[in-house]
Amino acid sequence: MNPIKHVAIIMDGNGRWGIKNKGSRNSGHRAGLNTVETIIEECIEKKIQYLTLYTFSTENWKRPKKEIDFLFNLLQNFLKHKIENIIKKKIKLNFIGELNQLPSALKDLIKLSEKKTKKNQLIQVNIALNYGSKSELLRAIKLINKKKLIINEKNIDKNLFTNKITNPDILIRTGNTKRLSNFMLWQMAYTEIFFEKKLWPDFNKKDFRIILNSFKIIKRNFGSVK
Ligand code: IPE
Ligand code: IPE
Ligand code: MG
Repeated sequence: MNPIKHVAIIMDGNGRWGIKNKGSRNSGHRAGLNTVETIIEECIEKKIQYLTLYTFSTENWKRPKKEIDFLFNLLQNFLKHKIENIIKKKIKLNFIGELNQLPSALKDLIKLSEKKTKKNQLIQVNIALNYGSKSELLRAIKLINKKKLIINEKNIDKNLFTNKITNPDILIRTGNTKRLSNFMLWQMAYTEIFFEKKLWPDFNKKDFRIILNSFKIIKRNFGSVK
């Protein structure tokens, strides 16, 4: 049975869900938050150490300003209202991405949330925000260059936002689309990928458990022939 240490998720389909069910894309983003809470609970239950959630990509700036503002506000309110609960539940929050380009109120809240949950150890939830794999890799190479290190796999690993986190065992993408959209390309060289038809707000505990169970029995070769 394969152990599961790290699950990464591309939470796609909020906009379509919102249009279909409530007439606006933004209501889908709001509904998606409930699924986030459910899946965090389930990861705790299953003793998964890392959960990484793709929340906003470096390409999502192409969206209408109104939607971007809504997304950042949603996250800000979530952090404001849920932080005490997150601390109580021993969840460690860790943000990855180009955070300096975010609105300053959100940046401050991110810093505070990381500080307040720093010592928590039950699960680490990585929020990928203004994250893009290509910009992360370029940044790593520039850092290696600046530190005058040699360019090798180890040094690239060490200079990514994910430097202290094991590579994902499982990637789930909801929303019935089969692509990676610039998410953790380096880290997912050997990740098992599950494309899910359901839109993110409809994805539930049972769907998640089915994926975890099918992962457990996959023969992972990592290039060998055992
Ligand atoms: C994913 O849902 C959430 C973000 C990218 C912020 P989408 O907003 O991409 O939803 P669809 O794919 O348009 O339905
Ligand atoms: C990927 O979803 C990004 C997030 C879920 C945050 P997108 O909806 O932005 O991906 P594309 O544009 O369909 O590839
Ligand atoms: Mg989408």
